[in-house]
Amino acid sequence: MARSCLAVILAAGDSTRMKSSVSKVLHPVAGRPMIAHVAAAVAGAGISDVALVVGRDAEAVEKAAAVDGLRVSSFIQKERLGTGHAVLAAREAIARGYDDILVAYGDVPLITDGPFAAARAALAEGHDVAVIGFHTAQPTGYGRLLVENGELVAIREEKDATDAERAVTWCNSGLMAIDGRKALALLERIGNDNVKREFYLTDIIEIARSLGGKAVAVDASEEELSGCNNRAELAHLERLWQQRRRREIMLSGVTMIAPETVFLSYDTEIGQDAVIEPNVVFGPGVTVEAGAVIHAFSHLEGARVATGATVGPFARLRPGAHLAEGAKVGNFCEVKKAEIGAGAKVNHLTYIGDAFVGAGSNIGAGTITCNYDGVNKFETRIGAGVFIGSNTALVAPVSVGDGAYVASGSVITEDVPADALALGRARQVVKPERAKQIRERNLAIKAAKKAKG
Ligand code: UD1
Ligand code: CA
Repeated sequence: MARSCLAVILAAGDSTRMKSSVSKVLHPVAGRPMIAHVAAAVAGAGISDVALVVGRDAEAVEKAAAVDGLRVSSFIQKERLGTGHAVLAAREAIARGYDDILVAYGDVPLITDGPFAAARAALAEGHDVAVIGFHTAQPTGYGRLLVENGELVAIREEKDATDAERAVTWCNSGLMAIDGRKALALLERIGNDNVKREFYLTDIIEIARSLGGKAVAVDASEEELSGCNNRAELAHLERLWQQRRRREIMLSGVTMIAPETVFLSYDTEIGQDAVIEPNVVFGPGVTVEAGAVIHAFSHLEGARVATGATVGPFARLRPGAHLAEGAKVGNFCEVKKAEIGAGAKVNHLTYIGDAFVGAGSNIGAGTITCNYDGVNKFETRIGAGVFIGSNTALVAPVSVGDGAYVASGSVITEDVPADALALGRARQVVKPERAKQIRERNLAIKAAKKAKG
């Protein structure tokens, strides 16, 4: 039978070095709070119970951690007395009785389910504690993993380490799995007799061994275990996340001409044979289907781009923009909460908001859906096969029927029936010779002025 597991996620840090008015774990990487990345990795490892240990912003942190498939309960750690003390804040949840207790940190957003599975596998093999470690060229500040004959015998914190121990480059990530039936007994034995007067979770190794148990360290990549203490590290994590995800997307069959200039969100989905040109930004909630092309300098958020559609260059798709198959949204266009039908074209300098554009319609340059009266938003409905002339203002609520034509420069305030031609502009007046007369008069005035000196 599958082993039950509770993940205890520590997120009670005071985030001092972030210099922020909100908890560190709420800061986003790839458009998603760091805590949600960790929670998603936990869920991805097939774990459904989470105990969240929080200090500040408890409600917001709990909400961010509640990703699909998780049952989250929160515990407040009032005083920050160390990682051992923090895990015990979730005593009530641990006491429910699980086979495995997995301890994770809320500020390691690049973590995947792999190390969690490896640590739990070591428990299943009979270890009491399995620590996730990493090798690094810069071990300063980390607890060192002290190993003898393949067994983990202790984790030594930097401040308590001897010179020989400090030379060790295998480090404690802080993430570990503990035998759930023994966890409370082991955690309760942790004291604070050390340089920092903190309850060190890491003491659990020597405690477990003193009671006849075994501990082991499993290895994971330094990158995946990178944490975040300040904004510079946050930017570094973002860079690492972007590099990893761009690569995955390219390997899945998407072309990126200059991947280092493309920014993805945690949930960006791009189909096979799509092409993403340089300097494209994907905010959250974007799906690009197979074979679509996103030209340079486009910004998409909450948008869906169907097969064969093209976007940009310099286009902005805002939430609710849905481009059907083969639709085109060209340069300097903005589309918000609007369906652009199959094969329809919105090619230049246009704003389409709160609208529906039918299949095969052509929206001329400079068309504006006037969707807002300063208080309320209204809808514009454009049928299929419609031609909207350049520089048209469609004053919503308004509709244009299938196959209709709207003359350039129109201000359309009333519904246009199917197959009708609508003109909503002043009539042109032509006065023969009048330009010449004006020019001659102006020249005469200029000459008179000059004569007067
Ligand atoms: C800890 C480990 C160290 C490891 C390092 C990896 C201990 C004693 N040391 O050290 O071996 O190499 O992490 O980054 O465990 N937290 C709370 N409440 C507390 C204390 C901490 O919630 O009272 C949370 C923090 O928000 C953070 C995590 O626990 O997410 C680690 O705490 P931190 O103080 O950064 O531990 P380190 O001293 O870095
Ligand atoms: Ca730390």
